[in-house]
Amino acid sequence: MWCSVSERVAVGVLASGSGTNLQALLDACEAPDFPARIAVVLSNRPKAFALERARRAGIPTEVVLRRDHPSRADWDAAAVSRLRAYGVQWVCLAGFMKIVTPTFLEGFPDHVLNIHPSLLPAFRGLHAQAQALAAGVRVAGCTVHLVDAGTDTGPIIIQGAVPVLQGDDEDALKARILSAEHRIFPLALRWAAEGRLSIVDGQLVVDLPPTEARWIWKG
Ligand code: GAR
Repeated sequence: MWCSVSERVAVGVLASGSGTNLQALLDACEAPDFPARIAVVLSNRPKAFALERARRAGIPTEVVLRRDHPSRADWDAAAVSRLRAYGVQWVCLAGFMKIVTPTFLEGFPDHVLNIHPSLLPAFRGLHAQAQALAAGVRVAGCTVHLVDAGTDTGPIIIQGAVPVLQGDDEDALKARILSAEHRIFPLALRWAAEGRLSIVDGQLVVDLPPTEARWIWKG
């Protein structure tokens, strides 16, 4: 199936760092049948390489500096209004190293996705890969979840698992997890844009065809 630009769901990506997850989303959007398009990339860090990736892809960028806003909620309100100006329907937090407040979530209720480098609910917060190594787990991974008011607590959409190998240091494990992130984030965004995610009786329901559901298990 082919998706015209006007049919595609407009997505805003928030990123603070190098933006390899943003790149995975941009690459996914190249597919003619991908149901979403990146309408804008917004950062709190003017030098984030993610912004450069967006420019190279011809995507508009916005920078919202924390120091220009008296409170976190004010920053969030400004970010919501910038994203709305681009008609954004879904938001992806792709290495966005700032906690969003309820003000932001009220702007896009149940429409904010986050990628986190652990198999949640294990290892929430910062340095998830170092936490995994310190705990001695043999399987690590990543999670895309809907964002709620907690930190890395929202309903889980998809996870990718990778082994922890003997001799791994933080960088080696980060890189292995990152490659799994690049596979699952575009998939979660596809499902979101296809309308497969809904909240029923307070629970997230991911409505997948059986073949796609089996694919997750096979990895
Ligand atoms: C990724 O590993 C992402 O999961 C993590 O930051 C990295 C960003 O990489 N996010 C968090 O830790 C958020 N709690 P990227 O800039 O190359 O996409």
